Amino acid sequence: MSEFWKNYPEIFEELNDVKNIMKKSIKGSDAYLNNSIIPLVEQGGKMLRPAFVLLSGKFGEYNGEKIRNIAAVVEMLHLATLIHDDIIDNSKLRRGCDTIQSKYGKDFAVYAGDYLFCHCFDMLSKHDYSMENLRNVSKAIKKICIGEIRQNYFRYTSKINFNKYIRIISGKTAALFSLSFMLGASEAKCDLPLVRTLGKVGYNIGMAFQIIDDLLDYTGDIEKLGKATQNDLKQGYYTLPIIFALEEDKKGELASILDSSSFEKDDIKAIFELVKKFNGIEKSKALVERYSKKAFENIKKLPDCESKMILSEVLQTLIHRKY
Ligand code: IPE
Ligand code: IPE
Ligand code: MG
Ligand code: MG
Repeated sequence: MSEFWKNYPEIFEELNDVKNIMKKSIKGSDAYLNNSIIPLVEQGGKMLRPAFVLLSGKFGEYNGEKIRNIAAVVEMLHLATLIHDDIIDNSKLRRGCDTIQSKYGKDFAVYAGDYLFCHCFDMLSKHDYSMENLRNVSKAIKKICIGEIRQNYFRYTSKINFNKYIRIISGKTAALFSLSFMLGASEAKCDLPLVRTLGKVGYNIGMAFQIIDDLLDYTGDIEKLGKATQNDLKQGYYTLPIIFALEEDKKGELASILDSSSFEKDDIKAIFELVKKFNGIEKSKALVERYSKKAFENIKKLPDCESKMILSEVLQTLIHRKY
């Protein structure tokens, strides 16, 4: 698992349990399916969303078994979106492993993602989760799909703009972060204002998180990230650094390169230089600051406890993450 949780032994241990729940629940399925998915679960990624479920659950009446199971559901849901996302983005590397689509083919990866999505609902039926939360899970999946659909719609076009980008990332990423916090808190019977404040923490962390992810596609290191860089641009996804640069592109220099459906090596280089020249990276970092500040303000409103302290520290680490 990532280094993120090593300073928090209790959460670290519980996240191992979450992984075991995931592994155990996939195990009885088809052997081929099992062999393809388990390495991704073992590798684990940052385990942010399940950790946020656990941490918010600790603001209320903590029923470990029930909360860890729903944390496993959230991570599985995330994994399903990644498997499908890697097909669409034609990505070769995920969590330092070959992606399912590159190793087993796109057709198989579609089925594997579908299987995990359905499996989530199977796991949700194991405990007496509230009907409202079952609805919240399916609503979040719909938001992710709509975010991804809109992102796809604006591929290879300079018509993308700031507001459209914000809508896309709030659907495809912030919705699941927000859900993670709300599920943990409401299943632990926290009162509604607390559930809502935690939901806002999740939303703002999620927004900052996706902008950082988009920045890392420009500035990151493939070894540390465990996934490719410069892939967004090659796939026609014009994320925030480009959007900010386009706002300064008065002569349409950048737009004219972007509005073609494939790039030569020189085009990529030219785009990177224009993004730098028009301060796309710096302005995106400033927006990360704004969302993180909002998240810190939301965290301040939470009742004092260990989870609150951990959330503050983890957010600080997340802002400076390199992977
Ligand atoms: C990747 O999420 C998808 C985005 C929302 C950017 P993570 O960066 O949390 O992926 P893992 O779980 O650590 O692999
Ligand atoms: C996040 O977007 C995808 C989902 C929310 C499913 P990205 O496409 O940027 O994620 P990475 O960079 O492949 O991890
Ligand atoms: Mg992707
Ligand atoms: Mg990305």
